[in-house]
Amino acid sequence: MGKKSLGPNNDFCPQTLFLYGTRDEQGNPDFGLFCWFSYIWDGEMGAMCCIGGDKLTKDNIKRSRVFSANLVTEELLPVADYLGCVSGSNPDKMKIPLEIGRGAVLDVPVLEKSPVVFELEVTDIVNKHDGDIILCKIRNVLQEESLSSDETVEQKLKRVAPVTTTAQTYLSHDGRSLGAWGEPMKRL
Ligand SMILES: Cc1cc2nc3c(=O)[nH]c(=O)nc-3n(C[C@H](O)[C@H](O)[C@H](O)COP(=O)(O)O)c2cc1C
Repeated sequence: MGKKSLGPNNDFCPQTLFLYGTRDEQGNPDFGLFCWFSYIWDGEMGAMCCIGGDKLTKDNIKRSRVFSANLVTEELLPVADYLGCVSGSNPDKMKIPLEIGRGAVLDVPVLEKSPVVFELEVTDIVNKHDGDIILCKIRNVLQEESLSSDETVEQKLKRVAPVTTTAQTYLSHDGRSLGAWGEPMKRL
């Protein structure tokens, strides 16, 4: 297979999307959209993520050392796209209708409409020049009760409809394009 050499990029390597929930200094919830999220092993499963540049999410995580990671579904995509395109430095960012609850174990804001939510406690932060790699202990996984049914994984995933992204495009679980970054928020 002929291949060409390119600079660093991860096109055609789809990534699962999460909305990270944090609290600002006043205790108000903030949500941002993130895809650089994966898992680690240290005696049990943990989570890792990378947050680049300056973001309210990063400031909040560094201060509180806890956050939630809420799986993005097709239903949540318009709001997720908005939360990924609007900075937390905009004081009006969170003035949108969102059903927000609290974690069962940690005091982190969680999205009621997300079917799978990780409650994460930071154990290590690796500071690079323009980004931070954050390692976390998974303190709890909130999973929608209906996902404990006897259906197959395939049937459950179809129902959950998680959204992935690559090449600045959102994709459904079965590979349909759900629009370029910045498009789904126009439906809000
Ligand atoms: C599809 C998508 C995925 C993103 N993934 C990441 C990511 O993994 N890491 C990151 O640092 N920023 C990522 N961003 C950018 C943040 O979501 C964006 O800067 C957001 O405004 C942060 O919100 P905050 O300022 O409230 O923290 C992503 C944006 C989009 C649209």
